Amino acid sequence: MRGRMAVKGHLSAQWLWLLLLFIQTSLGHVEARLVGENGTCIRRVEIKRGDTWGSICDSHFDLKAASVLCNQLQCGTAVSTPGGARFREGRGPIWTEEFQCVGNESHLFYCPRPPYVDQSCSHGNEVCVICSRFRLVNGTSMCSGRVEVLVLGAWGTLCDSRWDLSDAHVLCHQLDCGVAVSTPGAGHFGKGTGPVWGDTFHCKGTETHLGFCPVTALGASQCSHDHDAGVICSGQSESLRLLTGESRCDGRVEISLGGMWGRVLDYQWDMKDASVVCRQLQCGVAESAYNLPKSDQGTGPVGLRGVRCAGHESNLTLCNTNLSETEQAGITEDVGVVCSGSRQLRLVNAMGRCAGRVEIYYQGTWGTVCDDSWNLSDSNVVCKQLGCGHAVDVAASAHYGEGSGQIWLDDVNCSGNESELWECPSRGWGQHDCRHKEDAGVLCSEFMDLRLVNGDDCSGRLEVFYNGTWGSVCSSSMAQATVDIVCKQLGCGNGGEFAEDYLYGQGSGPTWLDRVQCREQHSSLWECPSKPWDPHSCHDRGEETHITCAGKKENTTLTRFVACPNSTDCTGTSAFPCVSILHF
Ligand SMILES: *[C@@H]1O[C@H](CO)[C@@H](O)[C@H](O)[C@H]1NC(C)=O
Ligand SMILES: *[C@@H]1O[C@H](CO)[C@@H](O)[C@H](O)[C@H]1NC(C)=O
Ligand SMILES: *[C@@H]1O[C@H](CO)[C@@H](O)[C@H](O)[C@H]1NC(C)=O
Ligand SMILES: *[C@@H]1O[C@H](CO)[C@@H](O)[C@H](O)[C@H]1NC(C)=O
Ligand SMILES: *[C@@H]1O[C@H](CO)[C@@H](O)[C@H](O)[C@H]1NC(C)=O
Ligand SMILES: *[C@@H]1O[C@H](CO)[C@@H](O)[C@H](O)[C@H]1NC(C)=O
Ligand SMILES: *[C@@H]1O[C@H](CO)[C@@H](O)[C@H](O)[C@H]1NC(C)=O
Ligand SMILES: *[C@@H]1O[C@H](CO)[C@@H](O)[C@H](O)[C@H]1NC(C)=O
Repeated sequence: MRGRMAVKGHLSAQWLWLLLLFIQTSLGHVEARLVGENGTCIRRVEIKRGDTWGSICDSHFDLKAASVLCNQLQCGTAVSTPGGARFREGRGPIWTEEFQCVGNESHLFYCPRPPYVDQSCSHGNEVCVICSRFRLVNGTSMCSGRVEVLVLGAWGTLCDSRWDLSDAHVLCHQLDCGVAVSTPGAGHFGKGTGPVWGDTFHCKGTETHLGFCPVTALGASQCSHDHDAGVICSGQSESLRLLTGESRCDGRVEISLGGMWGRVLDYQWDMKDASVVCRQLQCGVAESAYNLPKSDQGTGPVGLRGVRCAGHESNLTLCNTNLSETEQAGITEDVGVVCSGSRQLRLVNAMGRCAGRVEIYYQGTWGTVCDDSWNLSDSNVVCKQLGCGHAVDVAASAHYGEGSGQIWLDDVNCSGNESELWECPSRGWGQHDCRHKEDAGVLCSEFMDLRLVNGDDCSGRLEVFYNGTWGSVCSSSMAQATVDIVCKQLGCGNGGEFAEDYLYGQGSGPTWLDRVQCREQHSSLWECPSKPWDPHSCHDRGEETHITCAGKKENTTLTRFVACPNSTDCTGTSAFPCVSILHF
């Protein structure tokens, strides 16, 4: 929860827009709405009396009342009820009603509200609620269990096949449960009921909410409750965090003391200090300790100054900080660390996460890989590590453009079973005789693309690229929403229509997909559930999808794999008040 508050500062500029993004629910005498900040599920509770909306005092609205409200608004379960001026304040009146809910009421209306209690309550004490469409069931606490998600009013589970620790970190954080310790799958916490969602989250681990992670659901394999995903979170609120890095394991250090995040300043910050930070964050070992350049300094309050660790401490607060006041005052530089847990791999320059130039994040810097002896075995390790299937094409000679900066690896000789590229034999970090024109790349089987063929750019037979091959899509039980999403995604306007059978000829390649079920809240075809990938999906070519979009090609960037934060699609409409449902 504290982590989320930090986002507040830069989100508050969107406040005006957000006033429009309220939702209303009719409740007879009690109308309630959540007014909130873009990009979080943290909302201020407002209640209508007569024609006037007003806030509620935090001391009059507990977690039970919040549970009732989240449930009533179909926002899932209540995580917490932060109060006390932590968010942008409302401008209306503050009601003094107290809601005394048991927690199982279907509407706030049914909760007893004792008559007027005189209590001074200011705008600083307005209550907010954090609801979550995700919950953990059947664990030992609220912070472990089977992952369940509320979609269209029903709780279902998530398939464990692509659920990883980065995704789990985001969920733990979102539920105010610290960091993820492990992700036991295979129904470790018992089998759920309801649908099993095959959605794959592509979280970096730094997102504040699963709704901010890109998602793919198209063509996911069938999954049964034997494969329900689970997570065990540390359960402790985070007391240390790293900001503005590439992962949760590198960046500028902040510490939480007494509920407030503060900067850590030091001019003798060293590897011993950094080791303590990496250990406490469960981020592996320290790879570097640095001071932030002037332009990247923090601006908030200061938590710690002048830390002197021996290196073995389990917690930064256990390190020595007893400098004299004058010494303290002289220290003004923010500190940062890079822990080994920040190492990452990505593919760039190909409009998707599963194809492109290979880049590795190491010691706080992105660098490339040289193509000397780069072959299918190496490429397979890359695809597998990224959850992108297997390699279908090996790219050399900067096929996906030349990178810049470091060339991290050369003469990579993977056997193919390594789980991370840097486990493969090579010359060693930064050892090479290459230039960027030799940068290696790969095309993985899970790389997806779409197009309309045989018409013009904005009309034609729908084809998707998968497993290295273009194929068509069957139109059975396909709704108008799919057409709209395809046209928008191709930059062909906001709508279109199904064209008659065979209007744009017939395909000859695989028929990849059937039963594509896009709904309005999906923002790309990749998010729509469907039957699993199968080269023989259609019974005959007459089932292929033909589309005529209303618009013409605009010069826009396609919306493939966009992460939520910059996209209005992700914040949904008034019909979908909770940010977290947006991908379902
Ligand atoms: C709510 O729980 C209380 C006891 O905790 C019970 O008496 C009541 O019947 C329950 N109400 C509903 C609607 O389930
Ligand atoms: C809880 O988990 C156990 C196994 O750990 C399982 O036997 C039990 O059925 C589960 N209960 C529910 C309600 O899922
Ligand atoms: C670190 O120490 C502080 C103060 O002693 C304590 O509040 C906090 O829970 C500790 N954190 C961890 C992760 O042990
Ligand atoms: C700081 O603490 C150490 C031991 O904890 C002590 O030896 C030293 O004198 C203290 N220094 C100051 C300036 O208080
Ligand atoms: C890739 O190269 C390595 C040696 O560099 C070799 O052992 C391996 O068999 C090659 N893999 C393929 C698929 O050619
Ligand atoms: C990969 O397989 C080879 C034999 O094929 C084995 O010697 C090696 O230990 C394996 N490596 C890993 C990381 O599993
Ligand atoms: C990788 O394989 C190539 C060719 O098989 C060989 O020349 C090179 O020495 C190997 N590199 C390492 C680091 O093993
Ligand atoms: C939501 O916030 C993000 C990040 O500040 C911003 O980029 C985006 O434009 C905002 N969206 C809306 C609809 O205001």
